[in-house]
Amino acid sequence: MINKTEAKKASENGGEMATLVAYFSAGGTTARVAKEYAEKIGADVFEIVPEQPYTKADITFVNPLARCNREQIGGKDVPVAGKIENFSEYDTIYLGFPIWYGQAPRVIHTFGKGYDWSGKTVHLFATSGGSGIGKTAEKLSPSLKGAVSVDAKRVTGAAEI
Ligand SMILES: Cc1cc2nc3c(=O)[nH]c(=O)nc-3n(C[C@H](O)[C@H](O)[C@H](O)COP(=O)(O)O)c2cc1C
Repeated sequence: MINKTEAKKASENGGEMATLVAYFSAGGTTARVAKEYAEKIGADVFEIVPEQPYTKADITFVNPLARCNREQIGGKDVPVAGKIENFSEYDTIYLGFPIWYGQAPRVIHTFGKGYDWSGKTVHLFATSGGSGIGKTAEKLSPSLKGAVSVDAKRVTGAAEI
């Protein structure tokens, strides 16, 4: 796991605003894309990990009683482990996740609600089993309060971000 303790601080760039790639990945696909993209653009990386990590049973989405289903249907908050202490130093944030039931997983909403997005440009990117990006940006925007702009795309690799 790459987290805030390993991410280099924007202040090391001489105080200039920096770019962050933050991502959640349950199966590794989004993680691969996010890490490759961060490497390519020289951005800091933060892995969004739920305080209570998902087990295989939790993400068996065909089971209506599975945790992922209960969270999504209930619009629940899913607390995130760790905190990005230097969040204010980033002006551009790439936020990646898998599409769950046609939109961002609830843990992404909770992550968003934990920070002040004022003045920030947000690029959402998602991997999926085939679904398009749909209304992901519209649905997530209320959790990214203050963001100057939020766009979103479905990708299959880092070259498409
Ligand atoms: C709970 C859950 C819900 C999902 N819902 C969708 C969906 O609505 N549409 C889709 O195309 N794929 C869906 N998928 C598949 C994932 O979006 C896809 O496999 C993604 O690339 C997984 O990324 P990850 O390995 O980073 O977790 C779902 C997967 C899970 C676990």
